[in-house]
Amino acid sequence: MKNWKKNSWRKYPVKHIPDYPDKNELDTVLDKIGTFPPLVFAGETRHLKEQLADVVDGKAFLLQGGDCAESFAEFNPDNIRDTFKLLLQMSLVLTYSASLPVVKLGRIAGQFSKPRSSPVETKNGVELPSYLGDNINGMEFNKKARIPDPKRLFKAYSQSAATLNLIRAFSKGGFADLNKVHLWNLDYIKKSPQAKKFKDLEDKIADAIAFMRACGITSDFNNRLYTVNFWTSHEALLLPFEESMTRTDSTTGENHDTSAHFVWIGDRTRQLDGGHVEFCRGIENPIGIKCGPTLKADDLINLCNRINPKNEKGKITLISRFGADNVSKHLPKLIRAIKKEGLNVIWSCDPCHGNTIQAVTGFKTRPFNRVLKEVKDVFACHQSEGSYAGGLHIELTGQNVTECIGGAQKISENDLSSRYHTHCDPRLNANQALELAFLISDEIKKNSSYSKNADRAAS
Ligand code: PEP
Ligand code: CO
Repeated sequence: MKNWKKNSWRKYPVKHIPDYPDKNELDTVLDKIGTFPPLVFAGETRHLKEQLADVVDGKAFLLQGGDCAESFAEFNPDNIRDTFKLLLQMSLVLTYSASLPVVKLGRIAGQFSKPRSSPVETKNGVELPSYLGDNINGMEFNKKARIPDPKRLFKAYSQSAATLNLIRAFSKGGFADLNKVHLWNLDYIKKSPQAKKFKDLEDKIADAIAFMRACGITSDFNNRLYTVNFWTSHEALLLPFEESMTRTDSTTGENHDTSAHFVWIGDRTRQLDGGHVEFCRGIENPIGIKCGPTLKADDLINLCNRINPKNEKGKITLISRFGADNVSKHLPKLIRAIKKEGLNVIWSCDPCHGNTIQAVTGFKTRPFNRVLKEVKDVFACHQSEGSYAGGLHIELTGQNVTECIGGAQKISENDLSSRYHTHCDPRLNANQALELAFLISDEIKKNSSYSKNADRAAS
């Protein structure tokens, strides 16, 4: 990559990166983090990119999900396990019902920093800087907590490492064994319609496994029956940290951001001449680009060419997030422009960020029916434009929260206060997320253009 260094982004304008009061302390922390072990390694990132290349061709589906913002307070093994379980359940619904391998990508193990719509927050007449994510400042509403503190980066690094360690153990250590699908159920949803549908699926899988066992195909032969590949991702927002986690692979000379397998550029930081695009163009990781209503087709083409000049398959995932009523207004022209230029991209749908509203009770929420509508409209749009709806990007949690209204539990605005735990945006709970997975598998089943016989299953 010509004229690129891991710090060349510093010459460009950047948005949503805080001003630290003590620059020397920040530099000391970043230098230290630069000596820490990478969280992921280059070979893994390449493997993910290969799997994503299958998604480009409609031979696999990308499922990306997790917290809006991870937090230090909610860091515990049960939360990690339950998010992991939910993503496995959703993947199974998609793989089994839609016969399509699923690339599993968590918004996890590093998803801390947040771009905020306002730099300040006002409560009872008091104005303070906004909360920017636990790796930057504190959520508590007082002056001291809101000062950016570089030492928080150490805590975020170690939380990411411990989270990833547990995920690796779950992925390869037997938890993901298809013989144990019944263990993935979350207790609090056992009586819901989604849980009943999932139970039917479990029974069918048990039959299929019994049949395979009788034919002599067991996990002794094929580790795909008891392990999964599970990848990590977050928004590459806090560039000083991403820079310090960027390493040159000794075998190839390539630069990899080793803080996660996949990173994305947010809708507020995708300026062509901005620091975030400059940073992302030089790293080998697959890159997501959030595409909101203000994105012009020409800018999208320029962004893709800048970040993926070789038009490599699996490198770019475009994550559309227009809002339930705006899909047909914005998406078709972007799809046509990408097609006209012959660019290889995955089209993923984020039905969350365009559908956030404020309830009368003051809570930020998302109506689940709006989320479903955006997904349905995105599928319909890709079908009529002859492209693949290749992925879903959602904010969810395995916890039994009441953050998004609607769904099988009929969560109302009045229920929001009962279990509202998010540190930033409202997340779908397990019932809502599973309902969405069943909806998507129906959409994929309806569409015959997806390849149902991928040769390289993304197990
Ligand atoms: C997010 O994914 O948390 C986010 C801030 O999204 P967007 O950049 O699409 O607003
Ligand atoms: Co969010």
